[in-house]
Amino acid sequence: MNDENRPKTMDQKNKELREKWDKLHFDSQQGRAGEDPYPTTSDSLRIPLYATKSYAYSSLTELLKSHYFYSRTENPTLYALDQKLATLHGGESAVSVASGMAAVHLACSSVLQQRVDRARPKKLKVLLPQTNPDYIPNVIIHNNQYTGVYRLLTKIYSQIGVMTKIVDLTNLSELKNAIDESTKLVFVETPSNPNLDILDIQGCADLIHEVNGKCIVDNTFASPALQKPLKFGADLVVESLTKYVNGHGDTLGGVIIGPKIELQNIRYFWLETQGAVMNPFSAWLILRGCRTLSLRMERHCSNALKIADYLESHPKVVKVIYPGLKSHPNHELAKKQMKAFGGMIGFELETVEKCYKFIDLLKLIKVGVSLGDTTSLIEYTSVMTGIDLASWEKRRMNMSNTHFRFSIGLEDSNDLINDLEQALKKI
Ligand SMILES: Cc1ncc(COP(=O)(O)O)c(C=O)c1O
Repeated sequence: MNDENRPKTMDQKNKELREKWDKLHFDSQQGRAGEDPYPTTSDSLRIPLYATKSYAYSSLTELLKSHYFYSRTENPTLYALDQKLATLHGGESAVSVASGMAAVHLACSSVLQQRVDRARPKKLKVLLPQTNPDYIPNVIIHNNQYTGVYRLLTKIYSQIGVMTKIVDLTNLSELKNAIDESTKLVFVETPSNPNLDILDIQGCADLIHEVNGKCIVDNTFASPALQKPLKFGADLVVESLTKYVNGHGDTLGGVIIGPKIELQNIRYFWLETQGAVMNPFSAWLILRGCRTLSLRMERHCSNALKIADYLESHPKVVKVIYPGLKSHPNHELAKKQMKAFGGMIGFELETVEKCYKFIDLLKLIKVGVSLGDTTSLIEYTSVMTGIDLASWEKRRMNMSNTHFRFSIGLEDSNDLINDLEQALKKI
């Protein structure tokens, strides 16, 4: 790195670069933001993979002026990814971490802590947690939500005194009734996993802001190519980069996007302490995934719409859920919040027996958990994502035992439809 680009100028440089990247359209931002220009020692077109645990300087003075100390908090490859994701979301700052669940955990930790402002060396303001036995915050989540987040809140955070209320967030009056003076957070996942419920981000954010609480939006199913929750009043956005943003199914990752002060708190207190760091190779892969995000999303969405139409007209399919269908109860809201309706479809067959039979008959479509990949993946929800939940919890989270969650890949939609057709014919 030359002197001009040394970390002491990082803040100023960031600001100038952000102004430049903010002027571009999304399709250009996804390739350029965070990368062009990038302060490298060579003229390599692509961001180097910085496989280093720490950074060494010729003097203490130089070290103290530096942005980079230790790769648990900063790494130049991750730096490029953070810049790119902050730009794509229109957020001030971003922190990439090891997985989507790590992102959820760090974001919730930061929002739920009781804070004391502390100034740290290097001009960083960190909000340290305070211990007060009377502080019992509560969190509100939707009654259909990624099971990992449900588990984190109801089985781990509950042990440190955080109470989780589960309500129907598609109905804002339920949210209004559930909020009290101890409510610190409403966690909004939209579209929701697995039922593809569409939640009103602006409506939820407005209500929680009335009691000075925060709204975190899990944007995993949409990606920034389809939905930018900060525009609708979300305080923080979390995403599993494992899914659409990386898009190639070859690594895990997560990100938190939001205001600089909150993100500094997450990076320099929570991440530094908890250690859920993204590997630089993952960052490098995800940077590559980002460069084609909007193109891939276009195909995911157009394939999904064709397949949802096909399934809706099939006599053996009893229910199809896709936010792009007029039959979806929140289709209008989806149109307002999302650029297109995503690559995920839910559908149900008549009986459990037929479900078991159907899934084993598929040939091209792979059976597997996760989503957002080039390869189409289907899961039998209640026995795959829902495997860790007791039957009463599945009922509480509205998980049907005849439901399939279908992640539509980038194959030709005719091939996918042919595969569904031959399997449906035999049940
Ligand atoms: C909506 C949602 N959020 C978060 C996660 C967790 O992401 P990861 O698997 O990267 O930890 C998932 C995983 O499926 C998810 O679907």
